[in-house]
Amino acid sequence: MSECIVKMEHVSKTFPGVKALDDVSFSLNSGEVMALLGENGAGKSTLMKILSGVYTRDEGSLVVFGQSIPDQLTPKKAQELGIAIIHQELNMCGHLTVAENIFLGREKTRLTVLSQHEMNEEAKKILDELRIDINPTTIISDLPVSKQQMVEIAKALSTNAKILIMDEPTSALTSKEIDELFRIIRQLRDQGKGIVYISHRLEELSHIVDSVTIMRDGKFILNSKFSDTTMQEIISNMVGREIKEKFPRVECARGEKLLEIRHLNAGKSVRDISLDVYAGEIVGIAGLMGAGRTETTRAIFGADPKESGEIILNGEALKINGPLDAIRHGLVLAPEDRKKDGLCTKLSIRENIALPNLDAICGKLGVVNRKIEHRIVKEAVRNFSIKMSSAEADAGSLSGGNQQKVVVSKWLARNSKVVIFDEPTRGIDVAAKVEIYNLMNQLKLQGIGVLFVSSEMPEILGISDRIIVMCDGRITGELDAKTATQNEILELATRFESKMEVQQ
Ligand SMILES: Nc1ncnc2c1ncn2[C@@H]1O[C@H](COP(=O)(O)OP(=O)(O)OP(=O)(O)O)[C@@H](O)[C@H]1O
Ligand SMILES: [Mg+2]
Repeated sequence: MSECIVKMEHVSKTFPGVKALDDVSFSLNSGEVMALLGENGAGKSTLMKILSGVYTRDEGSLVVFGQSIPDQLTPKKAQELGIAIIHQELNMCGHLTVAENIFLGREKTRLTVLSQHEMNEEAKKILDELRIDINPTTIISDLPVSKQQMVEIAKALSTNAKILIMDEPTSALTSKEIDELFRIIRQLRDQGKGIVYISHRLEELSHIVDSVTIMRDGKFILNSKFSDTTMQEIISNMVGREIKEKFPRVECARGEKLLEIRHLNAGKSVRDISLDVYAGEIVGIAGLMGAGRTETTRAIFGADPKESGEIILNGEALKINGPLDAIRHGLVLAPEDRKKDGLCTKLSIRENIALPNLDAICGKLGVVNRKIEHRIVKEAVRNFSIKMSSAEADAGSLSGGNQQKVVVSKWLARNSKVVIFDEPTRGIDVAAKVEIYNLMNQLKLQGIGVLFVSSEMPEILGISDRIIVMCDGRITGELDAKTATQNEILELATRFESKMEVQQ
């Protein structure tokens, strides 16, 4: 029999200048997988941070396993109650090992001395159970983002929690890892645990979700069994209006050849890459996680060293030894890991947007012109509808999706010729995705060349003009987006893997 294990009633929370939660009620049963949905900034993470003791609520009541919880719930107390949270942004200590991260704050000791051996053994057991192939002694920062995310999941499960909150757990996972995660979620549900699942990948929901709770602008909107509702209803309740076109493609004549990459080699994952981007064109780079797409964009941008190859812009071979050279030539990159590479979370939104535009803001004298700064920031915020209390708030205080908007918007204020986006819609809600696509289209219409990496097939197919597919550091094919199919992309994306399988 399923029973109510969490009951939150009339919960409110205000941050300086923002009412993040306004009289929200929420409940979860044992053996239930509940999707918590809403646009960026709707308050999902805030509500779950209150349940897990990260934030304290201003008003309202919280009952967990029938026990009324006073206002001062701490993360430690929440853990003791059996609540674990996998945060939206990775929260790992990069210089510690996998095992040390899993047992952080709960270290195993023998006679007050840390028992590395025991922690490694125990971590190995947990990872094996989850079928995660990672050595527990690996230093976290040596792992790719997707593996770090799996460690984060292992860490939450290792506490034997009865209530598990997963805030965007799949945004950085490979499709194989996602399947594993879904298997684990079903297993946990069958054991009677309650799971809150937050995701902007709505197509995932049908695989695991029993019920949905929808929030909008900090308010509770709807709770329903998943089978009693339609995707259309879910989306219109999240957004508060109908979204007509999920992939608004625009047509325009292709211009001159803008960017030519010739025989680019950089490390193991970028092998002999040659590609062209024309003015007024969106080129999508598809491939599986680990195919070398991010590495390719970083090598073009000068963020990683190249071994050989040419980068030609408007017919002129460029010398790009670092990102600064690329930016000077009008070649910019909005990177994949926004927290690490894309944002200064401790600086304000204004400062983040101003930073890459300082040349325009300061002029020749090198003195900040507040008027120009204000105009640039205001336009960026308006173009992307960035939801914030004020431009002076820390970029780190924005909701995940709004952080991503800041990363993208700050580059667009420059007169860029080619804009490279690496997973620009990761963690972004359905309405904001459309805004990002519209912006890409706007760039295209302005004659800018757009190169974008994405792991979401529908968006690669829906927005690009041309699709380049990579596998194992190499380009395995090029497709016309209007006629291409998901199967064709997959076939090219697994070209070397399937060859290996045939050989075996
Ligand atoms: N620590 C904080 N300080 C100030 N404001 C905050 C803080 N945390 C959240 N907010 C604000 O509260 C609101 C709700 O944010 P929250 O992170 O809960 O949204 P979300 O639904 O999780 O969005 P997303 O899908 O983008 O992750 C946003 O307007 C956000 O800017
Ligand atoms: Mg969030």
